[in-house]
This record gives sequence, structure tokens and C-alpha cells, in this order.
Amino acid sequence: MKDIQQIDVEVQKLMQTIRQETLNKMDQPFMVDQKTGRKDLVTTVDKSNEQMLVKAIRSIDPAARILGEEGFGDVIQDMHGHVWFIDPIDGTMNFVMQKNRFAVMAALYIDGAPVLGYILDVMNNQLYHGGPDFGVFINQQKMAAPQNKSLGDSLIGISGPLLIHNQHQMQEIAQTSRGPRMYGSAGLEFASVLRGELCGYVSYLKPWDFAAGNVLANVLGLAVKTIDGAPLDMLSSNVVLVATERASGEVIRLAN
Ligand code: IPD
Ligand code: CA
Ligand code: CA
Ligand code: CA
Repeated sequence: MKDIQQIDVEVQKLMQTIRQETLNKMDQPFMVDQKTGRKDLVTTVDKSNEQMLVKAIRSIDPAARILGEEGFGDVIQDMHGHVWFIDPIDGTMNFVMQKNRFAVMAALYIDGAPVLGYILDVMNNQLYHGGPDFGVFINQQKMAAPQNKSLGDSLIGISGPLLIHNQHQMQEIAQTSRGPRMYGSAGLEFASVLRGELCGYVSYLKPWDFAAGNVLANVLGLAVKTIDGAPLDMLSSNVVLVATERASGEVIRLAN
């Protein structure tokens, strides 16, 4: 069987191929459908990206079982062995409305342990990648752990629905911070926390939204928990909080 380093090298190349494909497809007409309503879209680019990623990951890692948002992977009910999570376009609304500020994500967990994570910021050509064996990189540049900033000294990412409906006291949390930010791509918001631009990010997310960010955040010493302070369930939707240790404690206290 291939070792993790070989898999990593091949998946980094795959992400560059997917980036080029996505840019090409973005320049051609593509179809947009509604999933649950006008605020929940899927495009032919989401679907073809996922089909490409599933096929390529199966050939790179034959032991892979794959959970993909658009359903071209496998049905995953447990975390045994090599489980991959794929989000073929994260921020589909931004992709459709802005043609900017979206990501492609993949992550590998082995027997439930985070091993590899990839967040590709397509338009900025930045691949956030790594794992516990390597550290975290933006393209080829190694990232340092962000400062352990407090909520009061920082910006915080909060998803639109949580803030608008004031779930988990999000308006008070936003007031306590220097200001809330809302980017519309969980992957890019995780990346901003990795960079230390946000002290944290909180959103109701599905496994493919948080799997890659969770791998990278753990390596950089950030806390990733549910808003109640519990460990994430990798196979369910969670209200996820990724934050510095300090901000994580402060947000969880205010939210509960
Ligand atoms: C969405 C984005 C968005 C987050 C939503 C996700 P999608 O992912 O990450 O920022 O608030 O919860 O569903 O559907 O565009 O891949
Ligand atoms: Ca979606
Ligand atoms: Ca997503
Ligand atoms: Ca998606």
C-alpha cells in the first residue's frame, strides 16, 4: 500500500488539475439547479468536479471510501479504514453569484483520526494542505500557529443564519468581538482562522464542510468543537466552532 506521503503528493497534483478544470468550466456556460430552494444551489461544475475527484482518489488510494456532498461517492456509516470527505465546490452561492471566493476541499481520516486536509482557494491559487505528520502549508510555504488571540481583540467569522436568527447568542458574541465577518465559504473561513485573520469561525456545517479544516486546524493548535464544547461527530451535521484556545473558551461560555 502507498504511504501517506505518496498519497499527499498525488492529491496535491490532483488539486492543481481540479483548479484548472474549474477555471475552464467557469468560462463556459454551466447549469444551476436549486436543491432545497433558491438559497441552496448546485451546478454542473459541482457535479463534474465531484465525479473527477472520486475517480482520481479511488485510483490514488484504492482503500478509499468516499463521502462526497453531491452523492457520487459511497454511503459511509462508520469511520473504519480510509475515509475521504469531498466538497467539490464550497461556496456554490459565491461561485454562481461572484465567480470568486469559493474552495475545493478534500480530507482523509484513517480509523477516525485526521490525516490529510486540502482547502484550495481557487481564485487566489492557494492550496492550504498538510496533516499531523507534515505540518500545514500554503502552497509550499509552511504556516506558523496563529497567536492565541481573545475574542475582544479580534474579528470572528459567523455564518449568516446563525447571526440573523441570533442562535447561540451570536449577536452578543459578535458585539463582544471587534466585528463579525461572513465570507460564504466554510473552507475559506477556516483558512482565515488558520492565518490568524479571524480568532474563530462558527457555522452549522456538514461533514464535507469541516473535515479538511478540522485536520489543518488541529495541527496548528486551534480548538475545533461543537458550540456546546463537545467533540465533533464526523458523520453528522454540527454547529462547529474553530477558534484559538482563548476565543474558543470565551465563545462557548457566551453561547451556552
Ligand atoms: C456552504 C458554505 C457556506 C456555509 C454553508 C455550506 P456549499 O457550502 O460553506 O459558507 O455557511 O453551511 O453549506 O453548499 O456551498 O458547499
Ligand atoms: Ca451545497
Ligand atoms: Ca460546503
Ligand atoms: Ca459544496
